[in-house]
Amino acid sequence: MIPVIAIDGPSASGKGTVAQRVADALGFYYLDSGSLYRLTALAAFRADIPLDDAKALTALAGNLQIRFENGEILLSDQNVTEDIRSELCGNRASRVAAVPAVRAALLARQRGWRRAPGLVADGRDMATVVFPDAILKVFLTASVEARALRRYNQLKDKGNPANMSDLLRDIAERDLRDQTRAVAPLQKGMGAQLLDTTQLTINQAVDQVLEWAKSALVSSS
Ligand code: CDP
Repeated sequence: MIPVIAIDGPSASGKGTVAQRVADALGFYYLDSGSLYRLTALAAFRADIPLDDAKALTALAGNLQIRFENGEILLSDQNVTEDIRSELCGNRASRVAAVPAVRAALLARQRGWRRAPGLVADGRDMATVVFPDAILKVFLTASVEARALRRYNQLKDKGNPANMSDLLRDIAERDLRDQTRAVAPLQKGMGAQLLDTTQLTINQAVDQVLEWAKSALVSSS
């Protein structure tokens, strides 16, 4: 059985960076499941599909032409790596992600990422829905203020405009939507290890997950 390490958590908790670094350290594949919801949201915007048209969104999600190449993300042969990272796209993604049929349409694509020697997958429902047999489940979180500050620094570093009070409001709104949706809500599932990174550096968070991952790999082999 190909081992999966599932890392779930709220917006801007640092799970993307931690998951990527853990995958690199173990020589595993890395799935950024949020990018699939972001890509669906971007494709819907470009095709003028309203975010409440569940049927059209589902058809779109099932037929996305996506390629992940050398750290770049291509949607229908167009490089959208930067476009999908905007706050607006993240917000639209969380609305698209609340549509149950869209989630179902993206399920097989996510499971297809499970390849030897292993996978680190990050998102909201990696441990609860997509890979319930993951050998390690981590719920990575941090206070809303710490997450808003990280997102602020990330945007500023890239030369993008950022406003702390807007970010605080957006993140709190997104948390609420992700936690209260009917299907696959964001939650710490059974058997998940809680990692609160409010007071931790990225290196400390990576080290902790790697320590857990190594012992999970030993006990599962
Ligand atoms: O970077 P950030 O954590 O803000 O977002 P992301 O991981 O790229 O995900 C964008 C949105 O997709 C989230 O707000 C979720 O609503 C949704 N999502 C989801 O529902 N399930 C996942 N496995 C991953 C993301």
